Amino acid sequence: MSAAERAPISLPRLAEMKLNAEPIVMVTAYDFPSAEVAEAAGVDLVLVGDTAAMTVLGHPSTTPVSMDEMLVLARAVRRGLRTPLLIGDLPFGSYELSNEQAIATAMRYVKEAGCEVVKLERGGASVERARAIVRAGIAVMGHVGLTPQTATALGGFKAQGRTADSAVKIAEEALALQAAGCFAIVFEAVPAAISAVLVPKLSVPVIGIGAGPATDGQVLVWHDLLGIYGGHTAKFVKRYAELRPEMVRAVGAYASEVRERSFPGPEHSYSIEPEELDAFRRYLEHESLANAAEFGGDWSATEI
Ligand code: KIV
Repeated sequence: MSAAERAPISLPRLAEMKLNAEPIVMVTAYDFPSAEVAEAAGVDLVLVGDTAAMTVLGHPSTTPVSMDEMLVLARAVRRGLRTPLLIGDLPFGSYELSNEQAIATAMRYVKEAGCEVVKLERGGASVERARAIVRAGIAVMGHVGLTPQTATALGGFKAQGRTADSAVKIAEEALALQAAGCFAIVFEAVPAAISAVLVPKLSVPVIGIGAGPATDGQVLVWHDLLGIYGGHTAKFVKRYAELRPEMVRAVGAYASEVRERSFPGPEHSYSIEPEELDAFRRYLEHESLANAAEFGGDWSATEI
């Protein structure tokens, strides 16, 4: 089905996909061209993730990115999307303080960037925040397992749910987020066997990243999927392209051609009729620039 024929993804459609066991495809995106590619590729969900802090802004973790920065990225993504559901990721510090803060931040994504829904991380106090945002009329996606905003408290960037106690925590958080009204939940870095047990117990779709094949859908970070990011790559990442070396090669080739003056070539340059050029040369020889307005020749008709 072409992009033009595809209907925009709605929350009932996502629920139907879970019921029908149709895999849900989600990616992150942070700018207009990536959103256009996600649209053309027919993905279902696009997350403007706070991973932008690392992949786009060059921070060592996701925590420094601000809501104002996220909004700039989300607006650009909005302009490139028509059918996928657009999810704004609540950045660290933008929702934890109170339900009011969480609602206000979620509303900014909807009003100022055109996001349809938002995502937040963790169980615990985030369950109350999710419930409050849902009550305010904005649908929420939860996120459990490895939650990068609080990775330090979890003992670092490592898989969660590898002990029975830790798996129970994931189960309780996921069920609590579902009860709070979340329409879907991300499982990050969770053993495949734990997902396989938990996913059928949840009525909302579970989107996995490093959570094995049993989840209702999968999400990958844009720069990981395409091989653009030069930083650490998690075990769960599969690269579907290696664009970074290709980008370095292309920019290097451009630099070489500029330095050896082989770019631009005639095909990249504008021409001028010989008689116009001769007239211009005569002008330079015989007339002063101050008389340019009186000089014959139709400058306005020159196409650029
Ligand atoms: O911010 C992000 O990109 C995410 C995904 C890893 C799900 O939360």
